[in-house]
Amino acid sequence: MTAKILSAAPVVAQIKKDLIHRCEALKKRGLTPSMCVVLVGDNPASMSYIRNKKRMCEEIGAKFQLLHLSDKIEAAEFIQEIEKLNADSSINGIIIQLPVSEQLKKLPLPNLVTPSKDIDGFHGLNTQSLYLGSTDLSLLLPCTPKGIINLLKFYQINPQGKSVVVVGRSLIVGKPLAMLLSNMDATVVLAHSKTKNLRDFTKQADIVISAIGKAHFFDRSYFDHARQTIVIDVGMNSLDGKLTGDVNQDDIRDVVEAMTPVPGGVGPMTVISLIENLISATEKQSKG
Ligand SMILES: NC(=O)c1ccc[n+]([C@@H]2O[C@H](COP(=O)([O-])OP(=O)(O)OC[C@H]3O[C@@H](n4cnc5c(N)ncnc54)[C@H](OP(=O)(O)O)[C@@H]3O)[C@@H](O)[C@H]2O)c1
Repeated sequence: MTAKILSAAPVVAQIKKDLIHRCEALKKRGLTPSMCVVLVGDNPASMSYIRNKKRMCEEIGAKFQLLHLSDKIEAAEFIQEIEKLNADSSINGIIIQLPVSEQLKKLPLPNLVTPSKDIDGFHGLNTQSLYLGSTDLSLLLPCTPKGIINLLKFYQINPQGKSVVVVGRSLIVGKPLAMLLSNMDATVVLAHSKTKNLRDFTKQADIVISAIGKAHFFDRSYFDHARQTIVIDVGMNSLDGKLTGDVNQDDIRDVVEAMTPVPGGVGPMTVISLIENLISATEKQSKG
């Protein structure tokens, strides 16, 4: 057996078609969806993520704008900048690119962007829907979890009744994803760095989703051949100068049923979900 590769390419192509159509419909009504990314400083990884967002925006027909701020900016001035964008009716979606500089880290960053323009889906009012049990992917949900669910749907992998181990409990990936999967009737274990005997959990799982940020952490010893596990690799790590996931794909390909590649898996699903949130946000704003 060799694992099926769950590539993002056909999923992105399908979603993109729909988004181009929705974007055109908005433009016919005089509304061009417009995203503004707020970047603090010159983090090279951030610059690369931003280029991907810009490219995808342009491919869909939406507008992209960058607000590049100094890494010395004080908290009060930073808040003012975000408030200006919140009030600007020509901007439909705002992203605060993480990480920000030290003096801004204590700010309640997820809640600075007004909920209707929060296309990252981090604002408390947007994440609340997950706590309340929603499975509605048209809401402004965090992009990586939303992208993973869209990828599973495309490949007809229904989490209902499945045993799912999510490894990593960040606010942007693990926690919202665990909740979304639970809302979809999966039985979810949310594991982290203090989890004892992680292998005991992953070996029992139907689906393992890793978001820990450790290159090639998961090898074949984490999987039970008989279980036919599906592996979703969120990790984006640099190993010998190459983009690498948390999973050692060469080592596990003959012991799991299917896996997402890195690159070409969860990364593009996250970007397309962001653009989907932009289009949804613009549609909702136009209805008032
Ligand atoms: N593909 C994409 O679109 C995308 C999007 C977002 C993030 N990422 C990538 O995903 C990875 C995780 O990022 P993140 O921001 O979600 O997480 P994060 O804030 O970096 O936190 C890492 C999480 O992994 C857990 N962890 C670390 N080492 C572990 C270990 N040995 N065993 C079990 N759990 C462990 C930590 O546990 P504790 O809570 O106990 O510390 C924490 O919950 C990174 O590589 C990041 O670049 C990719």
